[in-house]
Amino acid sequence: MTTYRVEEVADGFYILRVNDRYTRFFEALWEIPEGITYNAYLLQTPEGDVLFDGWKKPFAALLVDALEQVTSPDRLRYIVVNHMEPDHSGSLEEVARWAPEARVLGHPLAGKMMAAYPRARGRFRPVRDGEVLEIGGERIRFIHTPWLHWPETMMSWLESRRVLVTCDAFGGYGIFEGIYDDECTRWDDAVRAMKKYVVTVIGHYRDWITRNLGKLSKLGVEPRLIAPAHGLVWRRDPKKVMEIYESLARAEPVKGKVLVLYASMYGTVEMIVRRIACSLSRAGLKPVVYGFTDSTRPLVSEILTDAIDSEAIVIAAPTYEAEAFPLIRFAAEEICWKASDGKRVVIVSSYGWGSVAAKRLKEVLEGCKYGVIDVIEYNAIGPAAIEPSEAERIAGEVARAIAGGAGG
Ligand code: FEO
Repeated sequence: MTTYRVEEVADGFYILRVNDRYTRFFEALWEIPEGITYNAYLLQTPEGDVLFDGWKKPFAALLVDALEQVTSPDRLRYIVVNHMEPDHSGSLEEVARWAPEARVLGHPLAGKMMAAYPRARGRFRPVRDGEVLEIGGERIRFIHTPWLHWPETMMSWLESRRVLVTCDAFGGYGIFEGIYDDECTRWDDAVRAMKKYVVTVIGHYRDWITRNLGKLSKLGVEPRLIAPAHGLVWRRDPKKVMEIYESLARAEPVKGKVLVLYASMYGTVEMIVRRIACSLSRAGLKPVVYGFTDSTRPLVSEILTDAIDSEAIVIAAPTYEAEAFPLIRFAAEEICWKASDGKRVVIVSSYGWGSVAAKRLKEVLEGCKYGVIDVIEYNAIGPAAIEPSEAERIAGEVARAIAGGAGG
């Protein structure tokens, strides 16, 4: 059964959060066994109320139920659409039907995307970057923040309250027990949930995070509460959260962290990689290992989450049908697309009758500016076990490359 929460997070400012335990693949792509929430917010004022964003379409009727607890059709004056992706706008037509006088506000581009919501489109008014809506003693400034996550994305800054309604930005996966980052949740878990969302969903546009955070800084936006449209509300240390977000945009590495990613059909690659990972640990590095085998299948969404802040990658795959093993090829391409930032990589491959995987992975990774430290190929027909000394040599290469002494 779907559950939702309606809670006052500041005087007259409510979160309306639905817990989506059905979506297993966000955007039909990213594995999220932990589920996801959609957070809308409702601001009450003496001159009428303002709704920020909404829920995915299957939950539209539930959103109206939730709204009835905190406002009414004749009180709802504005529906602010910070972002048009349907996980937030899918309920728009239902809410517009429920509140027939409410005006719909959004980025000028949002109006063009509203063909599927005729009631809302008929009441749409674009807002300029920096425009302020004054209502009932509140000042709500709309700040265009393109590519966080689409070009029409904006944030709503409740000036006197210092509450920043951010939609996808600062959002995270997961259905947490608490509403806030400091409630029933470990800080590291809250940050990882945000990190996974930003890499998988906004990772390709990371440069825009830096630009938009710079814009917020210039505008003097220093929130005491960050209210995103997914996951937890940030209240413990919003400044720190903004710093972490910025560091993710720069793919700032965790010292010594090495992503070790492999696929192994019959155990050869796994045997090689396990020995290399062990040698990496002995060299004082911190390998994080993911392996595709005939009994395990890691989540690409988690691999990306660890790729973004690794200092180097060891990637290993067998050749498969004259190509790199397909799941590794997909992971490598997505790492390039979402989480690459000129890091160092060691490529390992095995082959039976023809070697292709290493060459293909090298093409993919060099195409996104990875510095290839070494390429190691094994013929898996025969004695393919890696010698301990060879594993130590590879680990040493990675350690030196991280320290800036080789590779790249
Ligand atoms: Fe949460 Fe870009 O949608």
